[in-house]
Amino acid sequence: MSVLLCGDLPAAAAAEWLQQLRAAAPDETWLTERSPAIDPTIDVAVVANPPAGALQGLPALRLVQSLWAGVEGLVGDASLPAEVPLARMVDPLMNQAMAETALWAVLALQRDFYVYARQQRQAVWQVHPQRRAADWPVLVLGLGEMGRTVAARLAGSAYPVSGWSRSQSSLDGIDCLSGEAGLIAALGRAEVVVNLLPLTAATRGFFDAERLAAMRRGAHLVNLARGAHLVEADVIAALDSGQLGELVVDAFATEPLPPSHGFWRHPRVTVLPHIAAQTDKRSAAGVVAANLARLRSGQPPLHLVDRQRGY
Ligand code: NAP
Ligand code: GLV
Repeated sequence: MSVLLCGDLPAAAAAEWLQQLRAAAPDETWLTERSPAIDPTIDVAVVANPPAGALQGLPALRLVQSLWAGVEGLVGDASLPAEVPLARMVDPLMNQAMAETALWAVLALQRDFYVYARQQRQAVWQVHPQRRAADWPVLVLGLGEMGRTVAARLAGSAYPVSGWSRSQSSLDGIDCLSGEAGLIAALGRAEVVVNLLPLTAATRGFFDAERLAAMRRGAHLVNLARGAHLVEADVIAALDSGQLGELVVDAFATEPLPPSHGFWRHPRVTVLPHIAAQTDKRSAAGVVAANLARLRSGQPPLHLVDRQRGY
């Protein structure tokens, strides 16, 4: 099959991807350039966050395989024919990376390590009372691949964990909730809310003034999903009023985060440059190769996106 690799990839990263993908699927013809002669032959597009319209004019396209877990850009690309299946990246190594980031953030919040980091910058020696993990309830929003891995890692570290999803889930050791009533009650109990929802029409602007007001006063928000989940003006107002304690944030409505953005210098915001769970090229190449093998043998690809639902 002819497979086109395309998207928002610096040259060095594209070269590394190509090396891993060729090693994992050596029988495929790997391409990185389009041309009028080649376009009609392309069977599969393997994409990293491509700009809208990048996959137009590929009449033989049978699969779009994303190298990213979140696919809101592809779902929103009206030029992508509805009949072409769209698969997203699902890789246990990526889920584990996300669990490490979430655990680091929740632990640092529980034990006041961000507070101590600020104190160091001012040479302040001040001890705060030590809290127990078991007294530090955490709410995970989204119980998909990432959310349920995060929830399990946190529960395994003694935090009381609730999880919220669209449909009702059932997970060992996690208080699983769904529906708006469950959400509001859980928001009011949690010391930390970890966001792992996909970005869809239903979740855009999720953290607005009303939802932030439903959180416990002084509770913390860890946004590891998408920047557009936050209504930024409402989040900054909640931080400034003390309604929100700390914000740990990895993804932004505009990336890279502009140097003038208020998050960079806010004393209670920790900014990460969208690294909570990077795609692991070696293992992700294996995930792609497995889906290509399924396509070759006439089996449906795995991890297909429901474009109506948006994730
Ligand atoms: P997923 O497997 O598709 O899981 C999505 C979860 O969110 C599911 O539990 C789903 O509920 C729930 N959900 C969706 N819409 C909802 C709604 N309106 N209300 C309540 N729950 C809703 O996705 P994933 O692989 O866990 O990834 C989640 C997101 O993480 C991605 O979309 C991406 O934005 C982000 N991400 C970020 C990074 C990073 O480095 N920062 C890396 C990878 C991914 P159901 O269980 O009922 O379907
Ligand atoms: C990263 O944010 C991803 O969606 O894979």
